[in-house]
Amino acid sequence: MATNSDRIIIFDTTLRDGEQCPGATLNIDEKLAIAKQLARLGVDIIEAGFAFASPGDFEAVGKIAQQVGTEDGPVICSLARARQEDIKAAAEAIKPAYRGRIHTFLATSDIHLKYKLKKTRSEVAAIAEEMVAYAKTFTDDVEFSPEDAGRSDPEFLYEVLERVINAGATTVNIPDTVGYTTPQEFGALIKGIKENVPNIDQAIISVHGHNDLGLAVANFLEAVKNGARQLECTINGIGERAGNAALEELVMALHVRRQYYNPFLGRDRDSELPLTNIDTKQIYKTSRLVSNLTGMLVQPNKAIVGANAFAHESGIHQDGVLKNKLTYEIMDAQLIGLTDNQIVLGKHSGRNAFRTRLKELGYELSETDLNKAFLRFKEIADKKKEISDWDIEAIVNDEIQQAPDLFKLELVQVSCGDRSRPTATVTLRSPTGEELTDAAIGTGPVDAVYKAINRVTNIPNQLIEFSVQSVTAGIDAIGEVTIRLRNEEGVFSGRAANTDIIVASAQAYVNALNRLYAATQLKREHPQLTSPNF
Ligand code: KIV
Ligand code: ZN
Repeated sequence: MATNSDRIIIFDTTLRDGEQCPGATLNIDEKLAIAKQLARLGVDIIEAGFAFASPGDFEAVGKIAQQVGTEDGPVICSLARARQEDIKAAAEAIKPAYRGRIHTFLATSDIHLKYKLKKTRSEVAAIAEEMVAYAKTFTDDVEFSPEDAGRSDPEFLYEVLERVINAGATTVNIPDTVGYTTPQEFGALIKGIKENVPNIDQAIISVHGHNDLGLAVANFLEAVKNGARQLECTINGIGERAGNAALEELVMALHVRRQYYNPFLGRDRDSELPLTNIDTKQIYKTSRLVSNLTGMLVQPNKAIVGANAFAHESGIHQDGVLKNKLTYEIMDAQLIGLTDNQIVLGKHSGRNAFRTRLKELGYELSETDLNKAFLRFKEIADKKKEISDWDIEAIVNDEIQQAPDLFKLELVQVSCGDRSRPTATVTLRSPTGEELTDAAIGTGPVDAVYKAINRVTNIPNQLIEFSVQSVTAGIDAIGEVTIRLRNEEGVFSGRAANTDIIVASAQAYVNALNRLYAATQLKREHPQLTSPNF
């Protein structure tokens, strides 16, 4: 683990704070797939979840601890409110990891004290100290976050930080919980902590921040200049409300502008030593995986990983880039692993070639998943002459994203065109094994399919997002459909890929419905969102 002057520690909270955004709920296999990819990406710490929140969260943290928290893998962390039962659950869940961390938090702003906690400052400081000491009885690696630090009185913050460090906190994390601060203010807050907390050299200063004003990444970079050495971030910046600081933006800013940032870490301006441990070539793939599994699409103009991030449209730019890339490009697309979309496999490629290419792309599938993915590959190769890396990725992501297998799509058939009313027939197998068929007329073929599925399943829901993207160029491209549904339990996403976009649309809808149905059956209690006292 890095020390204060060494390098920047990347703490990824995609699976905890990231998963808190509406519709991004992941199942255990999906969380594991993301955790494994985060380990390949080289993050130092994975906040794998909030163990006390639900049995599912507990199990996911435990499995990630066991399978990803190996000797040479990342530290596995669980969030816990500053309460004994939370800390105990976190400690139990991270136990299988070679290195585990408990991250406990308690709000310190007067607004939170008065309206949410209904506690005095001295009560809060005492609880924080006591709970850090309690967490320390389970592991040496304890992080404390004074929630809403960005709006807390700095003098009170200094006092709480000094007390939790004395109690054993090895990382103190400063959250801008509501995304309110500006870069100058946030930098000054970190500077103030460095100068006014007498034992601060015994802990790493971390930062955590939300993007409500679009300032999270800028705030973090200013924090680095003032002494922060751990950055809490998420892939694609997903998270509560406007999201968290985006990992890829932070890492690439530190990489591309390392001559600017080096001196703040006590290095020579021209030092080529990486500022983070991240393998930047894994960034694009990680972004795609998180987007596919969470159903949170990446906006085309998103920095680093958006579809247009490396595209030059204007004639003047294209001309400049052709003459010399440096004219309009500050980084090479290959740095984030965006290689040319190679045509690699075809109809005659065998299982071995498929498995080898998967390995080269960094996917390790179980024998069962490999078999399923290979069948899909053959199906698609029959319809599409050339299969590229991006197609393979879409197939594999489809196999990894397993919504609960409750309703199964058995058949979808549509009739449409400018002389007929769009009509769809669907057959689904119900969770109890019954074969159910129905038909419906819609405004278009997808609408007709969704109406027919609704008639069969009879699950009330509202479709709030529908998007089709093609994986590659060309008329025979695979289409990826992402949808989001809402009911009183929340927002649920579904995704599917197929060369036939009507089939992909139907499958994505069934996947989302299954998630919604499962959640409605098993009401999930999330203490951070539901408990009024913390
Ligand atoms: O935003 C926040 O304050 C958090 C804490 C739990 C660190 O997510
Ligand atoms: Zn947060």
